[in-house]
Amino acid sequence: MKKLNAFYFSGTGNTRYVANRLCKKLSAVYSAAACDMTKSADFSSLIKNADCIMLAFPVYGSSPPLPVRRFVLRHAQSIAGKEVIIAATQYIFSGDGAASLGRTVEKLGGIVKFAEHFDMPNNLSDCKFFAIKNGAENAAKLEKAERRMDNFAKRIEEGRPFRRGYGVLSRAVGYFGQRMFWRRSEKQKRNALKIDAAKCVGCGLCAKQCPVGNIAVTDGVARAKGGCVFCYRCVNICPQKAVTLFGKISPAEQYKGVK
Ligand SMILES: Cc1cc2nc3c(=O)[nH]c(=O)nc-3n(C[C@H](O)[C@H](O)[C@H](O)COP(=O)(O)O)c2cc1C
Repeated sequence: MKKLNAFYFSGTGNTRYVANRLCKKLSAVYSAAACDMTKSADFSSLIKNADCIMLAFPVYGSSPPLPVRRFVLRHAQSIAGKEVIIAATQYIFSGDGAASLGRTVEKLGGIVKFAEHFDMPNNLSDCKFFAIKNGAENAAKLEKAERRMDNFAKRIEEGRPFRRGYGVLSRAVGYFGQRMFWRRSEKQKRNALKIDAAKCVGCGLCAKQCPVGNIAVTDGVARAKGGCVFCYRCVNICPQKAVTLFGKISPAEQYKGVK
């Protein structure tokens, strides 16, 4: 049986869920396993030894997150000549979120025949324009996304290529609508994480959970180091709701991930 290795980056669990479900759905044609690209592993061998790889990530401002772009560039040699499936999760819209990584992969010599977007629950909990939903509304959204995951897996299984977000219009909307601005703020706002010292009790959960080691607890208070990758995990797990990123308000509700 052919081997598929899926590599995901997931701030709050949506993308991990998608990567795992796709692997499970593809088990008739692939021996498939998903792993977190921020954990330590011999990724070069995992890529080289697979017949096909999957890159799964949440879209941020119509872009793949920084750790995903770095992962791809770091393993460029292993990716060359490899079949790559792109699975991008988003809240509502990205234009060409999947294709923006797909194009990079293709420049490195990877072969992208399958790329898809999955609309998943929102995790931007500290912005007043995006209310967090944890109940029935999210369940309905997930159900719809699961149907899309299953259809996507079926296409892969049957070898019918499909690439979402590769059209000229999607690219223009993705770039001019979001990516152009996002890439600038991504550079400027790596130190934007705010931890309210008056609320923080120094429990260290944020520091333990940060996928890039950007938070440390010193003198009983959590402090950010200035290398945030905007995944929103800490904003959503802090028991004191002491962490904010782009929003100016503490989260009214936190996103608790896919159940
Ligand atoms: C910094 C940031 C930027 C985002 N930008 C977009 C976006 O451009 N379009 C969109 O539909 N969703 C956007 N989202 C929502 C996430 O992509 C979505 O909730 C995703 O499924 C979260 O995945 P995760 O739980 O694996 O981290 C953004 C989320 C964050 C944290």
